[in-house]
Amino acid sequence: MNELNALAESARAAFAQAVTPAELENAKALFLGKSGRITELMKALAALPVEEKKSRGAAINLVKQAIEAALQQSRQALVDAELQVQLQAEALDVTLPGRRRGQGGLHPVSLTLERIEAIFGSMGFDVADGPEIETDWFNFTALNTPQDHPARSMHDTFYVEGGTDEAPHLLRTHTSPMQIRHAVQHVKHHRAADVAAGRLSDGLFSGDMPEIRVIAPGRTYRVDSDATHSPMFHQCEGLWVGENVSFKDLKFVFTDFCRKFFESDDLVLRFRPSFFPFTEPSAEIDIQFQTGPLAGRWLEVAGSGQVHPNVIRNMGLDPERYIGFAFGMGPDRLTMLRYGVSDLRLFFDGDIRFLSQFE
Ligand code: PHE
Repeated sequence: MNELNALAESARAAFAQAVTPAELENAKALFLGKSGRITELMKALAALPVEEKKSRGAAINLVKQAIEAALQQSRQALVDAELQVQLQAEALDVTLPGRRRGQGGLHPVSLTLERIEAIFGSMGFDVADGPEIETDWFNFTALNTPQDHPARSMHDTFYVEGGTDEAPHLLRTHTSPMQIRHAVQHVKHHRAADVAAGRLSDGLFSGDMPEIRVIAPGRTYRVDSDATHSPMFHQCEGLWVGENVSFKDLKFVFTDFCRKFFESDDLVLRFRPSFFPFTEPSAEIDIQFQTGPLAGRWLEVAGSGQVHPNVIRNMGLDPERYIGFAFGMGPDRLTMLRYGVSDLRLFFDGDIRFLSQFE
């Protein structure tokens, strides 16, 4: 009995020492193999007398079962250890926060442009789009801007290749060329019937046509760069031409726009006399908030005026019948005022940390 227990013990010890499955199988052969210790003991049974055979055989069987159980345990231990090693090697930190999918959003200036279009749209204004590379004619000459006007100088205007000395090409310095472009299209469209009916020749149009009511937002360019000026900036032009349009209408429309844009019913506007070659009279438009961090200060938001008769003529219209007003505002500045941003350059640096605040 003692000897059998000792055998079981040494099997357990041998199995426990094995570090790889191969070592364990070798150890198994020593005890349970064809010429292992258990097989030897079984063979030895044959020599025993019948009465002893039975009890001895049963005892050997018990030990054999004990050894098999120990083997099974050691096998499991090796599998567990291997799994443990693998888990360590392929460790996955499930506490790491997942990578989120970046969500795009509209640029703050685009939000402002959408807002401007929606508000003027509700007042019956169309939205027009035009080229950023302009001719000298549309940007200056047609807008009654004399040849020697300082705005034409290289200090203010980016000239580009492609034009001639007499008709240079440039990056538009304002959206005002859209006044001419849009009005010319509008007039052409409505005078076609008169021309076809022989009622009209080449002269200025004084026939019937629906009013021109349009805004033209877009990019503009000037040689200028500091905290409140960027070489590329935005403008939005407004034009209203009809038979009975007056400064009173300009005041009403622009006041209504500003109050809606800033969601401030008590906002006050001031029309300060100014000068532009293409309007006469001209006014700078200032706004004043009654509440909030900017309360009490006059802030310039637009240039405006009654369209100059020479400009009306360049639109193809007879200034004896048609009259209008125009304005040009800065959506970048409107965005700065609306969100309390103090440096214009932040809008064009492309820093996601800044831009994502407006999503
Ligand atoms: N184009 C002018 C500017 O850039 C603004 C303006 C537009 C003024 C229309 C009057 C009428 O400053």
